[in-house]
Amino acid sequence: MNMSAELFGQIDQIMQALKQEKAENEQQLEAFRIRYVGSKNIIKALFGEIKNVENDRKKEFGQRLNELKQAAENRFEELKTLIENAQSGNNKPDIDLTAPAGDLKTGARHPVSIVMQRIIRIFERIGFSVAEEREIEDDWHNFTAMNTPEDHPARDMQDTFYLKDSSNLLLRTHTSSVQARVMTTQKPPIRIIAPGRVYRNETISSRSHCQFHQIEGLYIDKKVSFADLKQTLLYFAREMYGPDTEIRLRPSYFPFTEPSAEMDVYWGLKNEDDYRITKGTGWLEILGCGMVDPQVLLNCGIDPEEYSGFAFGMGIERQAMLQYKITDIRQIFENDLRFLRQFSGII
Ligand code: DAH
Repeated sequence: MNMSAELFGQIDQIMQALKQEKAENEQQLEAFRIRYVGSKNIIKALFGEIKNVENDRKKEFGQRLNELKQAAENRFEELKTLIENAQSGNNKPDIDLTAPAGDLKTGARHPVSIVMQRIIRIFERIGFSVAEEREIEDDWHNFTAMNTPEDHPARDMQDTFYLKDSSNLLLRTHTSSVQARVMTTQKPPIRIIAPGRVYRNETISSRSHCQFHQIEGLYIDKKVSFADLKQTLLYFAREMYGPDTEIRLRPSYFPFTEPSAEMDVYWGLKNEDDYRITKGTGWLEILGCGMVDPQVLLNCGIDPEEYSGFAFGMGIERQAMLQYKITDIRQIFENDLRFLRQFSGII
């Protein structure tokens, strides 16, 4: 074999070897570098042999060598990238990123959350901000501060879950406890709404549950009047139930407000359902409210001579049930996907 043929053969061999080379770690990569692309690499040595190639094949030899050199450099970059990716955890299994996405099921918001958000937004628009507080409450904030001392008959209005072995800690029976939390820590003017879960020891049925949600409202400032309360509630009712909604306030009793009232909205008697829901009156009870009792202000360290305020509290479940025609309150807490999926897409 002549010299040229042997030198060409060497180029082929190196090219073959190059393609087989692997580097699994940095040492192997470095070995590759030294052998094929470093300052004393084996390809360079072949460049020195060009003088031994027959004249008429010199050009071809030079081209082949350049190709080999380029191939070595490319392979080096390839191996280097593989190792870098493996180190940075990018070495994911093959995924076809161009494949069309499967049937993605987006979640749905819970009807209670939907209605709660709507109510929050309505009050935020007139300057109320959200106050969230604990569900495990003490007796003072839930009852005593709210003018319901021990042995007060009004305690029987709300059957309470006490924590085991405690006569002080309980699951709050209403969000009115947040009133006491806020009034003892903030100075008037106070304008908050407090959404959250409450608990009562009640027999579970299609109409009542031992857990449900309320939104409390509290507004304390100088010279707050019953007219302010009425106007605020009318605004709420019309935002929530439509611009022509009529309301009525019926005298009522709550220990923490004086005077107290319950607000009804006129629902109408258009069909049989309406008769059933409104017990034939056309009116639906939505919330309890009143002027904050001066004793409650005193209990919380606010001077009733200087400040007055109003408060209101409403249940969410009943409003959600009316809106979405849910007939059994238990469905709200069962988390049955067939039920929940019906609300997907509602914001
Ligand atoms: N806390 C009362 C309840 O759970 C609702 C309520 C009535 C809240 C009147 C108030 C209010 O703030 O003024 O039945």
